[in-house]
Amino acid sequence: MDLEERYAFLAEYYDPNACLIRKYQLLFYGKDETCEMYDIKNKKLFLRRSKVPGLRMKDLFLGSIVSVHSRQLTIKDFGDEFTRRKLRAKTEKTFAMIKPDCIGKMGEILEVICQEDFIICSAKMLRLTRKQAEQFYIEHIDKPFFGNLMNLITEGPMVALEMKGEDAVRGWRRLLGPTDSAQARRDAPYSIRAKFGANVTRNACHGSDSLESANREIDFFFGSTKYPNTAKLQGTTLGLIKPHAVLSGIAGPIITDILSSGLNITALQLHYVDRANAAEFYEVYKGVVAEYTDMVTQLSSGPCIALEIHGDQDAHGKFRKLCGPADPELAKYLRPDTLRAKYGKDKIENALHCTDLADDCILEVEYFFKILDS
Ligand code: RTP
Ligand code: MG
Repeated sequence: MDLEERYAFLAEYYDPNACLIRKYQLLFYGKDETCEMYDIKNKKLFLRRSKVPGLRMKDLFLGSIVSVHSRQLTIKDFGDEFTRRKLRAKTEKTFAMIKPDCIGKMGEILEVICQEDFIICSAKMLRLTRKQAEQFYIEHIDKPFFGNLMNLITEGPMVALEMKGEDAVRGWRRLLGPTDSAQARRDAPYSIRAKFGANVTRNACHGSDSLESANREIDFFFGSTKYPNTAKLQGTTLGLIKPHAVLSGIAGPIITDILSSGLNITALQLHYVDRANAAEFYEVYKGVVAEYTDMVTQLSSGPCIALEIHGDQDAHGKFRKLCGPADPELAKYLRPDTLRAKYGKDKIENALHCTDLADDCILEVEYFFKILDS
């Protein structure tokens, strides 16, 4: 990004009090990372040029949802030709899949994805039927390896990912390495398939091979067809990786720590929670916890990743213990190995929400995997 430049966007805000959509021109200045907003209808300055906490250039792209002083704005369009031209290449989309053979390594794979500056726009754990898998890989239906490929794709859950980034299609294929994991280990030892793949079939991840494939594949998984999530909704508890943690790219290491603690992740989905839903989800804390409003603001400030956590016994208790005290300062002092101690910043940006009371586990899991996913 040229730091001297000014980027313009059209942003919309749903005003719940007036029950109407307000439209703004949002300007972002690269040089000092300040933001300025105009109310389009009233042709009035709405926000004087100033720094907006948490707002970064890389979070501004078509369809993204950003928080400006507790208002959740959706970026609907580019605001001028300059911005359109400059950002189009940067906002290329691709489709990625963590295949069933590598589901246990999803934390490490997500970490690589974030280190390479991809932005995850959609993520969902799901399981394809044979018929759906055949449709997805229809181009290979006559190939001798098709049977093996179908067995792999349908053997268990996978994670479907819509990602954005500069030159995303080629960049992700490069990061994957050659199809055959053994060849990847020879020719591209730092690639994902070299590190995580087993052989030519069980090769960890998929990546779209062209822009057209990317569009088709994103539509296949995240278009009008709704695939059921993999939540068990029984004997499980909720883990919620908060927006500040997702945006700063630490969801991968958090997931790796959860899996290496012996707990399982039986469902995963990225959500943009709006303010009304965040308020409803946290309702039990209203009037009880001083940070309630700030918690609602944080949860609705960007993408969060909902996890259904499963353990052989007492998933709720084990996961709470792993998360540690809600205040990271306290956690660092008392329980330095916990997730909040390692990844939290303060009481609001404490990396994760976990279900407080055992009796609420199913309610909270259902909120994300039944109500919000419908
Ligand atoms: P993908 O589509 O999964 O990203 O992989 P790719 O482009 O690198 O490879 P492609 O030729 O599209 O093959 C799709 C998947 O089929 C399995 N395969 N097995 N010789 C074999 O046994 C063979 N060749 C391909 C792999 O799982 C491959 O990723
Ligand atoms: Mg392919």
